[in-house]
This record gives sequence, structure tokens and C-alpha cells, in this order.
Amino acid sequence: RERKRKEGVNLLELSAAFFRERLKMPEGEGAREYLARRGLSPEVQQVFGIGYAPDEWEALKRHLGERGIGEAVQVEYGLLVHREESGRTYDRFRDRVMFPIRDIKGRTIAFGGRVLGDAKPKYLNSPETPVFHKGRELYGLYEARQADHRLERLVIVEGYMDVVALAQFGIRNAVATLGTSTSEEHLTRLFRLVSEVVFCFDGDRAGRQAATRALETVLPLMIDGRQARFLFLPEGEDPDTLVRREGPEAFEDRITCASPLSEFLFDQAAAGRDLARVEDRERYASQVLAALGKLPEGVLKSLMLSELSRRTGVDQSSFAALMAQSAPPPA
Ligand code: CTP
Ligand code: MN
Ligand code: MN
Ligand code: MN
Ligand code: MN
Repeated sequence: RERKRKEGVNLLELSAAFFRERLKMPEGEGAREYLARRGLSPEVQQVFGIGYAPDEWEALKRHLGERGIGEAVQVEYGLLVHREESGRTYDRFRDRVMFPIRDIKGRTIAFGGRVLGDAKPKYLNSPETPVFHKGRELYGLYEARQADHRLERLVIVEGYMDVVALAQFGIRNAVATLGTSTSEEHLTRLFRLVSEVVFCFDGDRAGRQAATRALETVLPLMIDGRQARFLFLPEGEDPDTLVRREGPEAFEDRITCASPLSEFLFDQAAAGRDLARVEDRERYASQVLAALGKLPEGVLKSLMLSELSRRTGVDQSSFAALMAQSAPPPA
């Protein structure tokens, strides 16, 4: 198992070096122009090890083959695609800007590749491999820890470009999930490193839905002493576009002012309701109670319960009884 991991990481490291090399060569000109157009400095490109997969079918395959790496293992680690029908193999990543995904120790475990234009899919990621599990890894975590080993707060964004752009502007504590929603495993890992996470998804429908899902996921993990906050970006913006438009100070201010979990939860339950009406208040209370049912016992939960009581005018003890009723039976 460990031998396997070493073999895979070596192959992935060779591939990352190959992509970086190709970015510097004449064939990398289009990619270099693209990165310049996106405003990524050479320094930040280097910190994140950004490269270019050439527009060829077998460039990486040949490169790795010459170094004694067989096709089977290249397929296993997601670099080569194997066509069942023809039995042929070809490079998975072609004509894309390559972002190496590193584990916490800095070993390359996978790649994300972006097209230079508008072709689909915009991003292509490595498949699940013996060393890469999307639902667990976070892009930029290694780099954030390199920048500061005593991090107290991490900002969770959606995309590679968001992480890299924020880093370029000195906000070096952003990480991204890899085209999946934030999982319990992601959050458990982050809370082992920091006591505070700030969710910062794109200012679009998908981003707002992601925030709602993130709230559900984080609730059971909110033991006392941990903090989760939610930052909502203006419509049409993502962290990359916004930090470029407003600058890092304004973006830092947004992070500092992000809504605490309690505020987001109460706001969400109130959305679209007229709390002057009894029935709306009843639904508001049920929604908040359902969420509170997922919070671990602790001071936060007690405080939110009394806040709900204050907001609805209902005695706390009746809420406690309701919550006990609706709680799932003990396992
Ligand atoms: N994503 C993906 N596959 C896609 C589209 C998106 O894996 N076809 C993931 C990527 O990790 C991407 C993130 O979802 O970074 C957010 O998607 P989106 O906001 O559409 O892309 P951006 O990160 O903003 O990319 P860019 O700025 O390069 O357009
Ligand atoms: Mn995502
Ligand atoms: Mn988006
Ligand atoms: Mn973007
Ligand atoms: Mn985006």
C-alpha cells in the first residue's frame, strides 16, 4: 500500500515537472498568454506549480514511458485514458493549463486542467485513484500551510483560480473543494487545523445553494470553540473577480464581516416569510428547530434556542420539548 503510494506520487511528480517545463517552451505560449490575461503573476504560478499540458495525444505518455513508467500505472493514476473499444491509450490532459493538486505534505496527488478558451468541460480533474479522493482533498491547503503554519482561519472557495488569485493578493488562507460540494470529511480535516472556517462561494445561484448545503454539513460539527461563517459575494462575482476589482483590503473586510452561522441560519429561515404572521412564525420556528436538532449539545445550541425564543415569543421550554419529540430515536 505504501509502496504503491510512493510509486504513484513519483509518477505524478514527474508529470507535474513535465507540465511546468512545457509551459516555458514555445508550445506553451498560448497558455502563458492565457495566464497573463487572467492576471496570474509568474511568482504565484510558481508557488502553485502551474503548468501546461501540450496539445498532443501522447506527449506525457512518451515522456513517462522513456522514464520506465508503464502504461498500466499511468492509467491507474489518471494520466492516460484507456479506450476499451480500440485498446488504445492517450493523454487525458491536452492543451490545458495544469494545476497540480497536492496533499498536506506537498506531494502531487492529482491535477485539474483548465481549457484556454470556452470549450467544455472548462475544468477536467483527475479521476479517483489510489491516492486521490475528491471528497477528501482541498486545493491549496498545502500552500496555505506553507504560508503560515499557525493558521487560525481558512476560507473555503469554489475554484482553483479563486485560491490562486487570492494568494497573489496576499490572502493566502483560501482552499477549494474540487468540483464537489463541501463534505463532512473536508470540514473535519479543516477543523483539525483551524478553529474557524469561512464559506465563500460564488455570487450566483449555484453558490447560494452550495452555502445552504454547507450549512447542513457543518451543523453537526459545531462543537463549542469552533466557528463557521458565511460570506456572500455580489451577484456575478467570484473571489477571483472581486479581489481584482476591489483589492485585498476590501476583500479582507468582507471576510471579517462574514455572517456567523447563527445569523445565516436565522436569516435563511426568515427568507420569504412575514414574521408578523403567526403561521409564518410557526414555520420559521420549525425550520430553525430542525437545524438546531443537528447541532451538538453545547453553549451555541443553548444560546440559539434562547434567541429563537426571543424572536418568536415562545417559551424556551416548549421548544426543548418539541425538539426532544422530533429528535431521531437513540441508536
Ligand atoms: N468545476 C469542475 N468542472 C467544471 C466546472 C467547474 O470541476 N466543468 C469546478 C472547478 O474546481 C472550478 C469550480 O468548480 O474551479 C468552480 O466553477 P466555476 O465557478 O464555474 O469556475 P471558476 O473556478 O470560476 O473558473 P474560471 O474563473 O477559470 O472560469
Ligand atoms: Mn465546488
Ligand atoms: Mn460559479
Ligand atoms: Mn472564476
Ligand atoms: Mn467561479
